[in-house]
Amino acid sequence: MSEKAIALVVQGGAGPISVDSYTKNRPAIGDILRKTAPMLVEGAAALRVVEEAVRLFEEHPSFNAGIGSSLRYDGSIQQDATIMDGASGRGAGVGAVKGIIHAITLARYVLERTPHVLMVGEWATEFARDCGMEMVPDERLIVPERRELWKRKLAAKETPDDQVLSSGGTVGAVALDTEGRLAAATSTGGMVLSLPGRVGDSAILGAGTWADAHSAVSCTGVGESIMLVLMAKVCADAVISGMSPQEAADLVVRIQGEKTPGTSGAIVVDKKGAVGLAHNSANMYRGYFTPEEGVVVPN
Ligand code: GLY
Repeated sequence: MSEKAIALVVQGGAGPISVDSYTKNRPAIGDILRKTAPMLVEGAAALRVVEEAVRLFEEHPSFNAGIGSSLRYDGSIQQDATIMDGASGRGAGVGAVKGIIHAITLARYVLERTPHVLMVGEWATEFARDCGMEMVPDERLIVPERRELWKRKLAAKETPDDQVLSSGGTVGAVALDTEGRLAAATSTGGMVLSLPGRVGDSAILGAGTWADAHSAVSCTGVGESIMLVLMAKVCADAVISGMSPQEAADLVVRIQGEKTPGTSGAIVVDKKGAVGLAHNSANMYRGYFTPEEGVVVPN
């Protein structure tokens, strides 16, 4: 095992998660950490590890990203994602992209193959096709539970306004690698019943995702609430000002709860391998790996 500080933190969404759902899906958090932490131990770049952790979430039908994404008002699927490399200070995102399982990999392609920071809509989808990504119909991304939830909310005549108070969710990962590099990645199917074309915090660097030379941050929860307090960047700046990752995570979920409606959560790792995990929602899928503690998934 490496003697250098390394750490990996993952999140699978914060919100009104029932005890039954949490109990059912909690093992997946441990599985994803056990599959990806060895990459860090063996010296893989933090950017590669956070992408892989998020890809595993995107393939898992229980989480709101890739397969299992939330349905928009019109029943369609659109996804947002961002990835950021703290060592180079470069990051990129995609918004309202359709027809792919791995929005996080498309964000990496924007980072590595274009001079741009954000690509959205049909042209981002076209870029995915040009990059040779597998294109899939919405039916491949929709799972029965999400379709039922969408139907129930439509039948109850709920509106996008109602969702801002109750829903939101993402998947994300932050990591410190053996070279001292930090990286963050976040991906989401967005908010159930949101208007087509709505883009949330997971597409916006500084809102849902941030990484620099001091820390890496991934946020989850209601995008409208997170964007208005620029949660990930405020969290990273709190670490620069001397807070521990836990203090910084606690601070930003408190700021979000005080300033905007809805709920949120944040995961953080700093350059020493200290981790922080916080949420103000009923629950949050989350867990971490450090060489000292191994894989930890809270009850
Ligand atoms: N945090 C994910 C979203 O609101 O889209």
